[in-house]
Amino acid sequence: MKQGEMLSILVGVLSDMPTLLQNKCDWKSLNINDEFPNVDRIWRQIGNIRVNLHRIHTSKEKPLFHSHPWPSAMAILKGEYETAIGYGKEKPPIIYSGIFTTGTMYEMPDKDTWHYVMPFKEPCYTVMVTGLPWDISPSNRTLVPLTDDTFDEVYSFFQQYFCKSR
Ligand SMILES: [Fe+2]
Repeated sequence: MKQGEMLSILVGVLSDMPTLLQNKCDWKSLNINDEFPNVDRIWRQIGNIRVNLHRIHTSKEKPLFHSHPWPSAMAILKGEYETAIGYGKEKPPIIYSGIFTTGTMYEMPDKDTWHYVMPFKEPCYTVMVTGLPWDISPSNRTLVPLTDDTFDEVYSFFQQYFCKSR
């Protein structure tokens, strides 16, 4: 994936969000509660691109340092998180760390980029776009969708952000 490509897909998706959010039934969800920080994910597939709406929770546990199985780009809509970035094959050393806040956008277009994110004051709301996975390896995670109440809570944040305030 060329540098900047995922970011420009992200910018396009952000401007399409009012349309993408018109029907709640177009979206699926996942309760990512087997690693820290926990994430409430609402997502839909658009061609080769997956649009993921995240509420990332605060946590007292050590955040998971990980690479992504697909190229990705993220935008922080509300909140802030500590982050650290590494580059290499197996759990590389951290080469960059800092705090990303509302308005930050960045991409991880390479499979050897690693990071963690750790909201520390309040949950953080982000949009992440992902491309096709680099490897299709079977996952042994057993995650389930969000409860209806949690889905509605998270969905209404994004609807309000993209549809009601503009
Ligand atoms: Fe990540």
